[in-house]
Amino acid sequence: MEKGIRNQKRREFIKRSALLTAGTLFMGAAGSKVLGALSPLLASKSIPSVTLNNGLQMPMLGFGTNTLNGATGARCVKEAISVGYRLIDTAHIYGNEKAVGEGILASGTNREKLFITSKLWVDDSGYESTKKAFETSLNKLGVDYLDLYLIHRPRGDVKGTWKAMEDLYMEGKIKAIGVSNFEPDQYNQLMAYAKVKPAINQIETHVFFQEHKAYDFLNQTKVQMEAWSPFAAGRNNIFSNVTLAEIGKKYNKSIAQVCLRWHYQRGIVAIPRSSQKAHMIENLAIFDFELSKSDMATIGTLDLNITQFPEWD
Ligand SMILES: NC(=O)c1ccc[n+]([C@@H]2O[C@H](COP(=O)([O-])OP(=O)(O)OC[C@H]3O[C@@H](n4cnc5c(N)ncnc54)[C@H](OP(=O)(O)O)[C@@H]3O)[C@@H](O)[C@H]2O)c1
Repeated sequence: MEKGIRNQKRREFIKRSALLTAGTLFMGAAGSKVLGALSPLLASKSIPSVTLNNGLQMPMLGFGTNTLNGATGARCVKEAISVGYRLIDTAHIYGNEKAVGEGILASGTNREKLFITSKLWVDDSGYESTKKAFETSLNKLGVDYLDLYLIHRPRGDVKGTWKAMEDLYMEGKIKAIGVSNFEPDQYNQLMAYAKVKPAINQIETHVFFQEHKAYDFLNQTKVQMEAWSPFAAGRNNIFSNVTLAEIGKKYNKSIAQVCLRWHYQRGIVAIPRSSQKAHMIENLAIFDFELSKSDMATIGTLDLNITQFPEWD
């Protein structure tokens, strides 16, 4: 009996290995069209990582969750993980950490395989309140550590907040700490007292707001740049932009894929959001083509060098 079960398990293992090998070969040959559909495992394996300044590996492409709340949020996070995303970006202020946690749980994926980011909102700034807010975020997400915790905006008692985050980092409750929406002078102020250097600065970056100064500054200071709203949340008619569509045609890729590939080729981590599984899959299929130098330069000309979210300034 026991032998029978062993044999059956062995047969299943061989079948799984064969499928995986076939899938890998197929992916190499056929590329994006099979991503997600063939094997979510393969899709997640195909997302390259970057090594942060503290040695932590972070996926170069993740899933944004702003506005994905309640049952929709949980469904989207579960679907995103099922098609291969491993980096999930949330924040206290999105009001969806519980939904994100439900999606993670429903995905059945081991916690260690995921890279979960949350952010400390300005109302919770200060040493004690940061520690409390962090615990609340963990509880809502249903996890016992975060991969990345960011100061959402450079407001309030940033010094007290950073000290609390450093302590949580030292205790091993956060694998990397960073900032969001920090200008170079705000970064320099923080560095005057920081014991731990931020690993990340998550800022608005897309083809209409390319952030060249911040890009150079972050490269020099060895802080990884992460783009929020990599599609400008659809503003300025990005999904019907003629220049991006023309470039996409050459590679048989969509505007969304051209945008995400442009981020990737600049070395920027991007966290696109989508409520549609087809878009989630499409947005992952960017690692099988390369934008030429001249197409990168043409995209460079789309820069308006201005935020598309003036209401948040
Ligand atoms: N740190 C910060 O201050 C900050 C600020 C803003 C955002 N963020 C983070 O960044 C993430 C991304 O930014 P975002 O949510 O503002 O917007 P975004 O990712 O720039 O754009 C999302 C929009 O693009 C559409 N979309 C996605 N894939 C598409 C595709 N393949 N084809 C056509 N349309 C597509 C989505 O519609 P469908 O749902 O129909 O696909 C949605 O309307 C957020 O979710 C959040 O995690 C951080």
